Amino acid sequence: MVVQDIPDPDALDWAEKSLVAASKGDHDEAGELADRASDAGSLLGIALSTYLRTSHHQDVYDQPTAFEAFIAGGGNVDLYQRTSATLATGYPGIGSLLDIGCGNGLALVPALQQSVAAPGGTAPSMIDLVEPGADLLQHALAAIAGTGLPVTTTAWQVGLTDFLRSAPPGQRWQLAQSTFALQSIEPQERLAALTVLSTRVDRLLIVDFDVADEKPRSRAHISGLATRYERGLAEYDDDVRVLVAQGFLMPVLLGQLDPDGVRTNWEHTADQWREQAQEAGFRDVQVLPLADYWSAPAFVLGASGR
Ligand SMILES: C[S@@+](CC[C@H](N)C(=O)[O-])C[C@H]1O[C@@H](n2cnc3c(N)ncnc32)[C@H](O)[C@@H]1O
Repeated sequence: MVVQDIPDPDALDWAEKSLVAASKGDHDEAGELADRASDAGSLLGIALSTYLRTSHHQDVYDQPTAFEAFIAGGGNVDLYQRTSATLATGYPGIGSLLDIGCGNGLALVPALQQSVAAPGGTAPSMIDLVEPGADLLQHALAAIAGTGLPVTTTAWQVGLTDFLRSAPPGQRWQLAQSTFALQSIEPQERLAALTVLSTRVDRLLIVDFDVADEKPRSRAHISGLATRYERGLAEYDDDVRVLVAQGFLMPVLLGQLDPDGVRTNWEHTADQWREQAQEAGFRDVQVLPLADYWSAPAFVLGASGR
């Protein structure tokens, strides 16, 4: 944990005002307010001030250095340990596994290792990786190969919807898992994909965040985001923070607010995730808390397919 100086109490207020301006598409005003926040000591102000004035990363997962630095540090260390431990509990007796949006395998690979290391433990022998990011997919493949486990891995560099359209019709998986990735899919498209998936898997495991249901761009929504992102940024050392902020956190944050931004994720309450899984045809849907985290608490959802 990195200890920061306590910023001027007005600092976060300026950062919040900067986000309000950005949410109205007023980038000049947003930049000026971010400068004031920055001068007053807000880490979010510093990050916004730089991001609003430089060329923007459009796809946070295509050039994943920042994302990979983000998940390797701060509160993600504990979050990923808990996530992998939970995934590993689902592997005994599982032969075929589908990992949807596997990223670089940071959740998956330790889970495989833990599952094998348990007394009498095994890991799935066939794994399909679905991941649109080319570099992330390569990193996941290399990480699995690096374990030396006897696993047949097939990599699909596509999103879930396209994967399900092209997957062999008779193919089923004993377990499909997705950690922090289904939030990347627009909710209607996600419902359609989950509906198909429910007919092709025995079990589903989703790990994601239980995010409060607030009116988008409302004062409460923006105020909550400002407070949480200030906290999240403080979890990284200065040098890593610049990379993480500019290449990942600022595009994700502004993608939710800026009318000109590219939206990277759609988050919901855990109840809404449960309802969507049920609507898609999954049965016995259970949601349990997994971990506290700076942006929102994480949950794990388990369900049975049809
Ligand atoms: C927050 S990351 C999580 C990655 C990984 N599961 C983990 O736990 O570290 C979101 C992932 O979803 C992937 N993704 C984006 N759109 C997707 C889609 N349509 N289908 C499947 N995965 C997608 C991204 O490329 C990225 O790897």
